[in-house]
Amino acid sequence: MSAKLRLGVNIDHVATIRNARGGAHPDPVRAAKLAAKAGADGITAHLREDRRHISDNDIKRLRAEIDLPLNFEMAATDEMLAIAIAAKPNAACIVPEKREERTTEGGLDAAGGHNHLKRYVAELGAAGIRVSLFIEASKAQLDAARHLGAPVVEIHTGAYCEATGAAQARELDRIRDAVRYGAGIGLEVHAGHGLGFDTVSPIAAMPEIAELNIGHFLIGEAVFTGLENSIAEMRRLMDEARQESGDQ
Ligand code: PXP
Repeated sequence: MSAKLRLGVNIDHVATIRNARGGAHPDPVRAAKLAAKAGADGITAHLREDRRHISDNDIKRLRAEIDLPLNFEMAATDEMLAIAIAAKPNAACIVPEKREERTTEGGLDAAGGHNHLKRYVAELGAAGIRVSLFIEASKAQLDAARHLGAPVVEIHTGAYCEATGAAQARELDRIRDAVRYGAGIGLEVHAGHGLGFDTVSPIAAMPEIAELNIGHFLIGEAVFTGLENSIAEMRRLMDEARQESGDQ
């Protein structure tokens, strides 16, 4: 079980703001440097097929200028596979970009897309890149990820973050069951999507989770408090929740 919960800071939406004007400001690589100072353990970036935020050049610069591990989020396409193999990120997280690749919760359909995904998991792994699959909290998806040979899964926390009251409690239970099941079958378990200050603690308290990947909220909060402050506060909440769960 991992004692320290890693924080991967997703910088995509710094690029979203930059691209709104088409210039060079704000620079996602500068954001990655600040994230490192503020306590991030890794940088996450999603090179989308339509390049709506992160660009190919951002990925090259992140590899060249940032010492933290890079988690490259990518669709399962030959174009992205070639870019990943050339950039050699520390990790690659395969995410759905097209409707037919998704489950109802929005995670990758690892069970339904087994045949398509197999080659990507194998080729990324053979290139020395640690592969994770972004899936919903379900046993079927976890079993499929394991059969595909992915060492890591990232559990989709979006439905939990959007729900309220009893529905949110049910989503949290579903995630907790999946996290335990995934760790029990030998997968390294990560989680992410939609997390903010008010939703992170119950997830961070799950001792089997090794890493959280968080982006949109941190970049949005930075508008009000600055990026270093927003990341440092997230880091503090994560550490506090992990500490309290260890004390129990
Ligand atoms: N993890 C994965 C696999 C994602 O695709 C995303 C969104 O790009 C995130 C985490 C971060 O989600 P958010 O930006 O909502 O924090």
